[in-house]
Amino acid sequence: MTHEELYQLNPDLTPEVMKKIDEVIEKNIHRPGCLIPVLTECQEILGYIPKELQEYLSEKLNIPGSAIYGVISFYSFFSMVPQGRHIIKVCEGTACYAQGSNRIREFICNEYGIEPGGITEDRRFSLQVVRCLGACGLAPVMMVDNDTYGKISIDDVKQILERYK
Ligand code: FES
Repeated sequence: MTHEELYQLNPDLTPEVMKKIDEVIEKNIHRPGCLIPVLTECQEILGYIPKELQEYLSEKLNIPGSAIYGVISFYSFFSMVPQGRHIIKVCEGTACYAQGSNRIREFICNEYGIEPGGITEDRRFSLQVVRCLGACGLAPVMMVDNDTYGKISIDDVKQILERYK
């Protein structure tokens, strides 16, 4: 697949992005176990690894697409969908759920037009619903990027999220 074809299939795969990715491939291709380092750098460059890029990597590295897909879906660090500039994690583990975290998630979905696992149209936020953030004593808990917010109410949520542009 050429860079041009890739760009037509997925406008995130610009010639500049692909130039960087080719450099990553070039640097790693002769190393044993090159797949994970290549995927890690692709994830850092683009923020996700779309299926068109998986096919390209499969061709260039001569690794079956199913093996690439397997690695990406196994490690939570990798994503197949674009990520927002900020990642919201709402906890729906037992302690948080008991404190109404599902209402917090519903509020975010309605207010920002986003689904769990999805991204806002302006790519400002990604939303993930998680099982426990390890801060049950602060339930209900939400994280935005690396910041943890505990004992939050629906009123707090909008104020918090407005800090992340
Ligand atoms: S259940 Fe939410 S932090 Fe543990």
